[in-house]
Amino acid sequence: MATTSVVHHQMLIGGEHVDADESYEIIHPATEELVCTAAKGTVEHADRAVEAARRSFASGAWSKKEPEERAAVLRAIAHRLGEEMEELIELEISANGATVRQATGFLVGLAAPHMLHFAEQAATYPFQQAVPTANYPTASLNRVIREPLGVCAAIVPWNFPLLLGLWKIGPALAAGNSIVVKVDEKTPRSLLRLGEIALECGVPAGVLNVITGDGPEVGARLASHPDVDKVAFTGSTQVGREIMRLASGTVKKVSLELGGKAPVILLDDADLDVAVDGILFGCMLFSGQICESGTRLLVPDHLHDEVVARLVARASTIKVGDPSDFDTDLGPVVSARQRDRVLQFIEGAKQDGVTVALGGGVPQGPEFEKGFFLEPTILTDVRNDMEIACEETFGPVLCVIRYSSVAEAVQIANDTQYGLTAGVWSTDLARAQEVGEQLRAGTVWVNTWHAIDPALPFGGYKQSGVGRELGGGALDEYTEAKHLHVDLTRKLEDYPFDAVVSTPPSA
Ligand code: NAI
Ligand code: MG
Repeated sequence: MATTSVVHHQMLIGGEHVDADESYEIIHPATEELVCTAAKGTVEHADRAVEAARRSFASGAWSKKEPEERAAVLRAIAHRLGEEMEELIELEISANGATVRQATGFLVGLAAPHMLHFAEQAATYPFQQAVPTANYPTASLNRVIREPLGVCAAIVPWNFPLLLGLWKIGPALAAGNSIVVKVDEKTPRSLLRLGEIALECGVPAGVLNVITGDGPEVGARLASHPDVDKVAFTGSTQVGREIMRLASGTVKKVSLELGGKAPVILLDDADLDVAVDGILFGCMLFSGQICESGTRLLVPDHLHDEVVARLVARASTIKVGDPSDFDTDLGPVVSARQRDRVLQFIEGAKQDGVTVALGGGVPQGPEFEKGFFLEPTILTDVRNDMEIACEETFGPVLCVIRYSSVAEAVQIANDTQYGLTAGVWSTDLARAQEVGEQLRAGTVWVNTWHAIDPALPFGGYKQSGVGRELGGGALDEYTEAKHLHVDLTRKLEDYPFDAVVSTPPSA
C-alpha cells in the first residue's frame, strides 16, 4: 500500500505533468520495498501525447530551428546529465536493480557523453547538400535535403531505460523531430527526469513527451497510431515482430533492436588469464540482462576442461548482493518474473541434459531472503540446438559448447536466429579478425566485450533487429531524404552555386 510519504511520478505530456486514474507500484528489486508509485498511462494518454508532439512539430518551434541551435540545447542537456548523475543513478537503479558500479560506468555514466555525441551530430549532419552528377542531359542543380520525419515514438525496456531512451531521443531531437517515449512500466523514473531536464534546457513543450503504460495497450497504440511517422523499439524479438506488424498499417518507419544470443569464440591461442575474466564480464555484467551479452562460449575440445575449471574458479569469486554497495559485482535481476523465467530456462536445460558446473539457482543466506537474486551460473555439455542455447535467457547464465575446428566454431556461432553481437578471444589479431569477418553480427568484439561507442553503429543482423542506432548514420534513421532537382538549361547564368551545378558530359 502506498503511504503518503511515497513519491508519485506523473507523465510528461505537452510540457506538463499529467497524472492517470490508476498507478503502478515500483518495487526495489533488491529489497522488494515500495520505492514510489507512477501514473499508469492509457491509450488516451498516448493519443494526447501524439497530438502534443504533432502540434509542436507543426509549430516549427523545434523542427525549424537552425541545427546549431538544436545542438546548443542538446549540449546543455548533456551537461545537466553529467551534473545530475548521482540523482539519476538513484532513479535508475532503485527501479531496475543495477549495481551502483554498473550504473556509474555504463547505464547512467554513458548518458552525458552519448547525448553530447548527438549534439555534435546535430551541428555537423549534412541537412543540406548539393550533389554533382554527370548523368542528366541538361545542366541542373541537385539538392539532397534531409528533413525530420515528424512525430516519432520510442518504446523502451527496463534494462537501460535512460541510455536506450537517449539512443532514440538524441537523434530524433537532433534531426528536428518531436517524440513520444513510452517507458517500461517498471522503470519510468530516469526518463521522466530526462524529460524535465530537456524542458528546462529549452526543448519546447510537446517536443519530448514521456508516458507510462502497459506495452500491449499504450505501446501498441503508439506503434499503430496513424499520426506517428516512425517507431523505434528496444526489447524482445517477440514484441519486435508485433511492433513491425502494427506499424505496417500506416507503413511507418521502424527501427528495432531486439534479442541476442551472442557467440564467444575462444581460439586455442587465447591468453586464458585475460580471456576468462573477459568472458565472465561479457556474460555476467548486470546479471546478463543485456541484449549484447556474450552467452554462448565456444571452446576448443582440448582446452575444454581447463577453461571450465578456470571459469568456475573465477566465477565463484563474483560477489552477489546489495547493488548500492560499490564492491558488489552482481545485483538482483529486475523482477520476480524475470528471476522465475531464468530459473525455468535452467530447469529446462537440466532436463535437456546439461551439466551445472556452477550455480543454477538462488543464492542462499539471510541477505537473499528479499530481492530477486540469482547465482552466477555456468552450464556445460550444452548443445547448440538446446533451448538454453537458442533463446535469450537474460540471466547470469553462461553456456559452454565444444568445437573441434575453427570452421565448426564459426558454423555454430552463426547457427542462431540472432545476430546482434559476437566475439573472438585470441592473441593472433589477424586470425581473430579473419574469424570475426565470418560472424553474422552487427558488432564483433576481439579480446573485449561491452565496448559500445556512440561514434560506431549498433544493431542486429537477422532477428536481432532492423536498422542501426548510434554511429555516423544515426540521424539517417530519423530523417527523410528529399532530392530537389532544378533544371538549369535556361537559367544557368543566374545560379550562384556554380560549384555544385551538374552539367552533362558534352556540355
Ligand atoms: P518486452 O519486449 O515485452 O518489453 C519491452 C518494452 O516493450 C516495454 O516498454 C513494454 O511495455 C513494451 N511492450 C510489451 N509488449 C508490447 C506490445 N504488444 N506492443 C508494444 N509495446 C510492447 O520485454 P519484457 O517482457 O520486459 O522481457 C521479456 C524478455 O525480453 C527478457 O527476458 C529478454 O529476453 C527480452 N528483452 C530484451 C531486451 C533487449 O535489450 N533486447 C530488453 C528487455 C527485454
Ligand atoms: Mg513482455
